[in-house]
Amino acid sequence: MKFETLSIHAGQRPDPTTGAVMTPVYQTSTYVQESVGKHRGYEYSRTGNPTRAALEACLAALESTSYGLAFSSGMAATDTVLRLLSPGDHVLAGNDVYGGTFRLFERVLRPYGLDFSYVDTSDLDQVTAALRPETRMLWLETPTNPLLNVSDISAVAEILHPKRADGSGRSSAEPYLVVDNTFATPYLQRPLELGADIVVHSTTKYLGGHSDVVGGAVLARDAGVYEKLEFLQNAVGAVPGPMDCFLILRGLKTLPLRMDRHAANALAIADFLAGHSKVASLRYPFHSSHPQFDLARRQMHSGGGMLAFVMLGGKPAAQRVAESTRLFALAESLGGVESLIEVPAAMTHAFTAGSPLAVNPGLIRLSVGLEHVDDLLEDLEMALRVI
Ligand SMILES: Cc1ncc(COP(=O)(O)O)c(C=O)c1O
Repeated sequence: MKFETLSIHAGQRPDPTTGAVMTPVYQTSTYVQESVGKHRGYEYSRTGNPTRAALEACLAALESTSYGLAFSSGMAATDTVLRLLSPGDHVLAGNDVYGGTFRLFERVLRPYGLDFSYVDTSDLDQVTAALRPETRMLWLETPTNPLLNVSDISAVAEILHPKRADGSGRSSAEPYLVVDNTFATPYLQRPLELGADIVVHSTTKYLGGHSDVVGGAVLARDAGVYEKLEFLQNAVGAVPGPMDCFLILRGLKTLPLRMDRHAANALAIADFLAGHSKVASLRYPFHSSHPQFDLARRQMHSGGGMLAFVMLGGKPAAQRVAESTRLFALAESLGGVESLIEVPAAMTHAFTAGSPLAVNPGLIRLSVGLEHVDDLLEDLEMALRVI
């Protein structure tokens, strides 16, 4: 089935008891057993819940696998994936990952004995040079938050898993290739098809799509990796509630439609900002000025709804513009139907200050929503006139 059909139907069927078309919210913590140990597949809702199972199956289908797990947030999903590793293991990560991911790595997991280093993952020579015998995971975010850098997933997979092209699986000695696919969504790119082992999402963003739920997901390519992650999901317990799963399932049904409009609006805004006298530089994967423009066009279905730009006037200009829009709401997060504006150095990425991952204080990030593009352009034009 095609993506649009899967996004509406995968993992779901009319409720067998009532015929309800929408998957019910199974708001229950436990399930009655016919006799000791004899049940209908559900014992306790941390372990499994039918609403969550529908979401997990739908997400898996969209990412071209059979193995999906839902979590209570993107960070919970990330944390659970890192628990595949042991003290002494090394993780190589992009030098432009989401600030919360960097904080988890440095402040929570490093004290537990994991080692992390950061490179520009769009530069394959840097990736190769930074691998160590004890490297057990490569954490790739593409496009990155907030700079929209694009890395070549197939080429990185080829470095980590050189034998896979001839049909062999990942050997247990090889590092896991994990891709945070939050910005792109599976509608724009499917990392497991390109050789990744694990995909992580903050479903809070485009997958939920309406800024009304926090969630995360992990998709695995192989049954063996999935079994380890499924064990961790239950053992650690960072699971989402059924109502949150329902909201994300509902969001998924319109994902392709929303992403097309997000991308069309964002491209028009990129064109406007690229020619603006107060803008120093622009980052949008499908704009010809982007350093990985050709790769982005090869790897992604569209440029998505996120873009970033640096103000010529630096930090004060960026803050003034972000406080002057009327339609673009000054807020963290992204991926909802409404447009948002923020200054990453002072907001979402404040934790990276003083680190090698520090963000230019004059950078503005936009999450371009589904409003009419003329209204969005007018709003930005007005805000840029203020400075
Ligand atoms: C790329 C990326 N990954 C992970 C996360 C964390 O997700 P959550 O906020 O759902 O925990 C975010 C949140 O902004 C993100 O942008």
